[in-house]
This record gives sequence, structure tokens and C-alpha cells, in this order.
Amino acid sequence: MPLISNKGNQMPESPIRKLVPYAEAAQKKGKNIFYLNIGQPDIKTPQVALDAIKNSTIETLAYSRSEGAESYRIKIAEYYERNSIAVSHNDIIVTTGGSEALLFAFGSIMDQGDEIIIPEPFYANYNGFSTASGVNVVPVISKIEDNFALPPIEEFEKLITPKTKAILICNPGNPTGYLYSKEEIKQLADIVKKHDLFLIADEVYREFVYDDVSHYSILQEPGLEQHAIVIDSVSKRYSMCGARIGYLVSKNKDFIKTALKFAQARLSPPTLAQIASEAALDTPQSYFDDVKEEYVKRRNTLIEALEKIDGVKVANPNGAFYCIAELPVKNSDHFAKWLLESFDYNNNTVMVAPAAGFYSTPGVGLNQIRIAYVLNEDSLRTAVKILEEGLKVYKD
Ligand SMILES: Cc1ncc(COP(=O)(O)O)c(C=O)c1O
Repeated sequence: MPLISNKGNQMPESPIRKLVPYAEAAQKKGKNIFYLNIGQPDIKTPQVALDAIKNSTIETLAYSRSEGAESYRIKIAEYYERNSIAVSHNDIIVTTGGSEALLFAFGSIMDQGDEIIIPEPFYANYNGFSTASGVNVVPVISKIEDNFALPPIEEFEKLITPKTKAILICNPGNPTGYLYSKEEIKQLADIVKKHDLFLIADEVYREFVYDDVSHYSILQEPGLEQHAIVIDSVSKRYSMCGARIGYLVSKNKDFIKTALKFAQARLSPPTLAQIASEAALDTPQSYFDDVKEEYVKRRNTLIEALEKIDGVKVANPNGAFYCIAELPVKNSDHFAKWLLESFDYNNNTVMVAPAAGFYSTPGVGLNQIRIAYVLNEDSLRTAVKILEEGLKVYKD
């Protein structure tokens, strides 16, 4: 038998999807499941984007330029301009989702055995992209007690070795919902400048920021031009996860030149989806205002309901649409399976994401879950009630 690579064997399973077989079995038994485990928004895609596809007169679905269509990149640069971020279209490479932007960024700045420091819990696929790139993740633990704020900067500094090439943050965070302050970004900027590292910020949730606080992008930080790499995506911003469009943004010319070689190797980002994504940039502000209002209501409903449950501790998210909750259980992986396999409340149950998969330090986050508030308020109330009833009867 030909053998699978070590890298292949080491690729982690998605902590979000690994419970799917249990959910399918529960559904076959006739149980109704509330899905709190996955970040697929139930929000409609902006009409301008859908219309652009419907009205397209394209006759040949050709490759686009490897860096993405110029007209699209020019409009993306204008979008950043509107958000007080000064970049040119030449600083942008369109990718197949933020996922490919992450892969290109890792490939462009890190070699086999290099290290990247990431505050955890973090978006679980950073582990997969690191494995695929032969890079070692060095975690810094952020804590639920601190609402998952940036850990003290000395904690990062202690971990820097000759192999360290970058620090990666997600702002606002998946799975924490934490929004880094300008002061926190400045601390990170100082340390990457001091040690000549890259600072990668995954800002795919930039628009999802609540409570009148504003998002401070690493691209706004003066003096960080050669260090800053932003990962962006249309997936959540316009509820266009299936378009598979994202982008890399950096003012570092060597980085962009290198990332472009990766982009050339895969020829082109999706052409039709770029047409939709370009049109999405004309989405009226009212769309975002409505979406934000909806998420704020959902977040408030969810957090309020969770806080009422005995023994549950929850961080208060300022952004994105996730939160981490600590449960009075020893092992949330087991609890999540049990909810699907062995429990129902009036024939309903919930699917949650065990949080251990969002940490790379073994044994951390075992009693935590991630909840995505991508369901309407009524469903969220019902889902939390089911969780509460489950906790009453569950035995570790
Ligand atoms: C933090 C974060 N980064 C990147 C991605 C990748 O998204 P996509 O490849 O759909 O742009 C996601 C998707 O959920 C995410 O949550």
C-alpha cells in the first residue's frame, strides 16, 4: 500500500465538523437540532451582488488575472479608503477565500520549522494551515476571566526565538468575539518592529463590531507598513461564504511580489464570484446597519440567557458572532456528543463546538464551548434552554 505523508497524517480534523456524524444520526432518529456550532450566517446576501450574477452577460468564463481583476482591486482599495485605511490596488491580491490568503501568507514568510505566535483560543484552521506549511504554532493563552483580551506583551516576547517569523491575531476574534483596542495593536506593533517580525491580522469580521467601539486595523498603525499583512474576506461581510473570495493586503512590496507567485501557481481566483464581490462593494450602508442591529440583539439575548445558567461563565464579545462559554462539565467534547446522542428536550437538541480544538496547548479549554449566534433570537432562547436542561441531567 502506498503511504500517506506524515504531514497528511498530522493534518488536524476540524473541531467544528467532527461532530457532524453524531448530528446526522440524531436527525435520522427524528430529533430537531439547533446548530450553534458553525459560522454560516443565516443573513441574506446583498441583492446587488446576486443581481450582478443574474445580469451577467459573460460568454466565456475565463481565468482572471492571478492577483484578481483590476477593476475589483481598485474598488477594494476605495472600500479601505472609506474605512480610513490608505492602500492602493497594487497592495491587494484577490484569493480564493480568506483561507487561501492565509496559506499564501504563511508560504510567503515562513519556512519548514519556523514559528508563528498566536494568542489562543484561535480560529481552528490556523492549525491546519500551519501543518500544511510545516510551521509550528506557538500559543499564548488568553483567558475567559479577562474577556480574552491581549495577554501581557511580555508573554509574547518571552516566546520569540530565532525561528519566530510572525505574530498572528484575529480581530475581532473567532472564537472569542474580542475586539483588540488601539493600545493593544500598538503594543503588538512595537514588538514586531523591535524583533523584525510580520504581524498578520485576520480582519474578516471587521464590519461586525458592536457597542460604539471602532475597529483599529493594523494597516492604520503608522510605521508598520513593512510588517503588516491583512487577511480579508467577503464570506461573512456580505454573507457570501460560497463565493470563495478573500484578499491579502500589505504595503510590503516584497511580500506582495512573493504572494503573487503563489497566486500565479494557482492561476486565478474565481471569476464569476469576483463579479458578485465587486458588486457587493456597492451594498447600501442600511444593509450593514440592519445586520449589525440583528447581531447585537442576538448577542445580548444569548449572553443574558447563558449568564442565568448555574455554573456557566461567559465572555462578553464586542465583535464577530461567536462567544466562548465555560460549562460546569469536565469534558465539553463528551458533553457535545452526549447532547446529540443521548439527550433531547421535547425532541430538540443543540450542536455546539467543543472549544479544546481552538487551543493548541493540550488540556486547555476542555470545559469550554464555542457558540455561534447565527440563529434568530427565538431559536437562540430555545437553544440555550435546551443546553440548560441538558446540563441539569448530564453526568461527567
Ligand atoms: C477568523 C476566520 N478567518 C478566516 C476564515 C476563512 O474564511 P473564508 O475562506 O470563507 O474567507 C474564517 C471562516 O470562518 C474565519 O472565521
